[in-house]
Amino acid sequence: MELNLTPNTILDVQLGYAKRVLSLLPTVYGANPKACVVTFGCQQNVSDSERLKGMLFEMGYTLIDDIDNADFIIFKTCAVREHAEDRVFGNIGMTKQIKKDRPNTIVAVCGCMSQQEHIAEKIRKSYPYVDFVLGTHVEHRLPEFIYKRLSGGKRVFELSMEDNTVIEDVPVKRDGKFKGWLPIMYGCNNFCTYCIVPYVRGRERSREPEKIIAEARQMIKDGYKDITLLGQNVNSYGKGCSHGVNFAKLLRMINDIEGEFVIRFMTSHPKDCTIELLDTIKECKKVTRHLHLPFQSGSSRILKLMNRYYDREQYLELIKNAKERIPDVDLTSDIIVGFPGETYEDFKETLSLVNEVKFASLFTFIYSKRKGTPAATMDDPISRVEKGRWFSELLKVQEKVAEENIQKFIGKTFRVLCDAVSERDGYMQGHTQGTAVIEFKGDKSMLGEFVNIKVEAYDNGLLGKII
Ligand code: 5AD
Ligand code: SF4
Repeated sequence: MELNLTPNTILDVQLGYAKRVLSLLPTVYGANPKACVVTFGCQQNVSDSERLKGMLFEMGYTLIDDIDNADFIIFKTCAVREHAEDRVFGNIGMTKQIKKDRPNTIVAVCGCMSQQEHIAEKIRKSYPYVDFVLGTHVEHRLPEFIYKRLSGGKRVFELSMEDNTVIEDVPVKRDGKFKGWLPIMYGCNNFCTYCIVPYVRGRERSREPEKIIAEARQMIKDGYKDITLLGQNVNSYGKGCSHGVNFAKLLRMINDIEGEFVIRFMTSHPKDCTIELLDTIKECKKVTRHLHLPFQSGSSRILKLMNRYYDREQYLELIKNAKERIPDVDLTSDIIVGFPGETYEDFKETLSLVNEVKFASLFTFIYSKRKGTPAATMDDPISRVEKGRWFSELLKVQEKVAEENIQKFIGKTFRVLCDAVSERDGYMQGHTQGTAVIEFKGDKSMLGEFVNIKVEAYDNGLLGKII
């Protein structure tokens, strides 16, 4: 039985299935079987999908972006807001015709949305052309599921969350060539009352530091210059583990790896952001001067209802400490507008906090009711239209703050990784030590290279010159 196997044997078993799929595929699909991974939601999902792609590649699939021509289609879904779920259902619906035209195509749904029983049930009843519904803890078993289905097996609904071990060394096929995701932990223990994540991704579990360092070293060897450490709450990395490495120590260990590269991380929970971490960011030259610290609401009353474990004053104190220790820090945040019971007075406290902190940018969301979370049963008397008005008000305030903020970069020089082609003709782009985008004259040959850029002006974006 799978549960009695150690993590390494679990992977070996799956690699064994991958080999069997490899020899089976041409008999079903001919010479060039194709797979398409469609990803919704956060960076954690993007990173998980890179591992799905790694396994599909091992099985002999060519990876393509076009679902119409794929023999295997997998939707990696997000459940954090209703809108995300609606989009997924729209996409799944499109595969009905594909299956009609090519009945051998396999369609799979995995990720946070499929972990929910009521969603799995809906797919079972209303989407008979979906072959697999896989929860978040069984994605590494993809080779086994594909092999069994190709060998005539039934539809698969596998939502088991019993096995909470981290499966290491899963093959990975990264989307980027010099910017890459590096997961350091999975799951969340915080149970904010609005959030579905702890229910669908399960309890927090950290990877061993040696495994993370080995993967970081390999990425750097492979030419990655910009590495983002990922976790639902990276600040609690290592909690409950015997190795004694916390997030600040982990950052130092990665910072000590030889080579010129940039380290980013997300997401942080304010309650776990320590002075030790702030000092580490300051001292580690490869770590970007950026803190994404979601505050969600500026009202202490609402924060309590959200189960956030900090109040407005504690959050502002943390920001004060961050700015004192890292004067050039860029701060970004997530905000929820219209949490159940939130009044306009509460909302005004969110506005005043935005004005006070001066975030570089914000991710703002209107509250979305998630079945099974405590907030879903709370009274929610404010209409969607009214919440929409508040939301627009927040965007206007932030627009002004961001405009003021950006001026501070003019005249400064940054070591910039050229990471994309700009939409401005003849320009390339990269980032400051934080999050701001700088555009500068250049061409594609500069992609993946570090350059020194002096910011000279602001014209619908920061414009700089190579020095
Ligand atoms: N409604 C709206 N926004 C939500 N988020 C999480 N759950 C919900 C919800 N039910 C937002 C939070 C979180 C970000 C990833 O998504 O702001 O920080
Ligand atoms: Fe959700 Fe809160 Fe966990 Fe973030 S910290 S994933 S908002 S429960």
